[in-house]
Amino acid sequence: MCGIVGYIGKEQAAPFLLDGMSKLEYRGYDSAGIAVMEGAKIRLEKCVGRLEALRAKIAGDMPVGTIGIGHTRWATHGRPCDRNSHPHADSSGKFVVVHNGIIENYLVLKEQLIEKGHVFLSETDTEVVAHLMADLWDGDFESTVKKVLKEIKGSYSLVFMTEYEPKKIICTKKDNPLVIGLGEGENFIASDIPAIISRTRRTFIMSDGEIATVSADGVWVQDINGTPISKKVFVVNWNAEAAEKGGFEHFMLKEIYEQPKAIRDTMTGRVDKETETIAFPELNWTPEMMASINKIFIVACGTAYHAGIVGKYYLEQLARVPVEVDIASEFRYRSPLIDGNTLCIVISQSGETSDTLAALREAKKLGARTLGVTNVVGSAVARESDQVVYTYAGPEIAVASTKAYTTQILAMLMLAIYVGRLRGTLGEARAKELVHGLGLVPEQVHELLENVDQIKVFARQYASCEDAFFLGRSLDYAVALEGALKLKEISYIHAEAYAAGELKHGTLALIVEGVPVIVLATQSDVYDKTVSNLQEVKAREAVVIAIGFVGDEVLKQHADSVIYIPKTDKYIAPLMAVLPLQLLAYYAALTRGCDVDKPRNLAKSVTVE
Ligand code: G6P
Repeated sequence: MCGIVGYIGKEQAAPFLLDGMSKLEYRGYDSAGIAVMEGAKIRLEKCVGRLEALRAKIAGDMPVGTIGIGHTRWATHGRPCDRNSHPHADSSGKFVVVHNGIIENYLVLKEQLIEKGHVFLSETDTEVVAHLMADLWDGDFESTVKKVLKEIKGSYSLVFMTEYEPKKIICTKKDNPLVIGLGEGENFIASDIPAIISRTRRTFIMSDGEIATVSADGVWVQDINGTPISKKVFVVNWNAEAAEKGGFEHFMLKEIYEQPKAIRDTMTGRVDKETETIAFPELNWTPEMMASINKIFIVACGTAYHAGIVGKYYLEQLARVPVEVDIASEFRYRSPLIDGNTLCIVISQSGETSDTLAALREAKKLGARTLGVTNVVGSAVARESDQVVYTYAGPEIAVASTKAYTTQILAMLMLAIYVGRLRGTLGEARAKELVHGLGLVPEQVHELLENVDQIKVFARQYASCEDAFFLGRSLDYAVALEGALKLKEISYIHAEAYAAGELKHGTLALIVEGVPVIVLATQSDVYDKTVSNLQEVKAREAVVIAIGFVGDEVLKQHADSVIYIPKTDKYIAPLMAVLPLQLLAYYAALTRGCDVDKPRNLAKSVTVE
């Protein structure tokens, strides 16, 4: 997501800020800006587009000063444009802030501040923080920051400057990364290590709730109650490329491990853990509008198409609307039966896939109402759909999609619960049960990702095979499709997913001794039938790796090995069952020496037909 840098010391700030921001480009961004203390005044320079646009804007008139903060923005609230770029200031311009994350309660705070006379210039959630600083200013920088933190909810790394105390930068974080770099007579702040390693390798990582006051001579860390915190300094020995990947060997692995955060961010503002309800403030659909929808199309390509198949199960079962899922390149040419009571949902990580866009335009032409589910604010899908639901996975760099997929299926599940409640097809108690389960997911996913040794062993064991099969019924089948796609796209092993009940109608002929078959068994209503299918392949001497819930002893008796996932609701299971499949593909590809992040012949975003 966004990149943050800060500098305070004896050198000019602006050149470092621009250089540091360029090292964070890999995080993805659509606009950039800096704020530098010029004498006693803060000078703000920002614009939409690449860093070159910002450099060009200030060429010949660089801000002069040795204290400053900078930001590369990946839009979440408000389209990419000059006004929405960071840093943001209050109306007096005496307080500036840069932010990475989402301020969940910004709308309420914004209304209150507008009532008090604050004038807002942007559509961002971040701007409320700058105005809050001005509103709560008590003559002391640290104390005011603490007051602001008590008001805001959400996830953030925040860095503040004020003209009232120009020799300090204050920063803090919750659920978003922030590191401090220590120099001689100068100190650095960044959302990620690559931004600072050209200047210092002595760093420490901020933890949630810590507040750091950074001056040229030192860094003082405390918690919100003023208790001092001593931080362990470590010396970074990664090279710049490794640092971009956060110490992971590949972007794909980094992105797999970013899933707890991506899931948490996508639930932010939608899952209310206290009332156990789902809201989509960006949609504001009514029971009447939902009652008038008699058919839903879900249209997408690749992994997003697989998320659509999961979405079909959710919407049909929870909201009781007939759903057709289509591959975008098929949909656009098959004269789909659409009218004004049809809702067409297009899913696209990039929001720029050519076939998906063409399908969206076709659906609109035929009179459907349209909803885009995308990860990129301001993308073509976001601009052209009637309404948009964003996934907040952050930029995905590896060609093989991982965190985008989990956030897409999460978005579809939240949507199905929301629509199910509006249509009266999903009871309150059942909805609460599901929302409660969703609240546990980030931690469960984190737990699962901490115990992957067994998966690594399997991947190495079967990396030399030529074929692999993935079986499941119901939602397990939908996830199996994604598991097979992951394996083939990055390890080049021929992989096929089958609805387990369909096996006898052909595929069973391919099951011979030693062929790895991955069987997903998380769906209670078809569990026994899946276990029977498992036995059928076992009888043909396939090597069976089953995926099931912790404590499932039956699977142990029948499969060669079992990968356990945390116990959860059957509808939530796909969010967890896909993780071992992503990791199996990753480690198999690694063992085979494949180019994991850039598989042969494939592209991240397919913008041609
Ligand atoms: C390409 C990518 C896939 C992605 C698909 C759809 O094939 O390699 O990972 O799922 O495009 O992309 P979209 O951006 O529309 O989700």
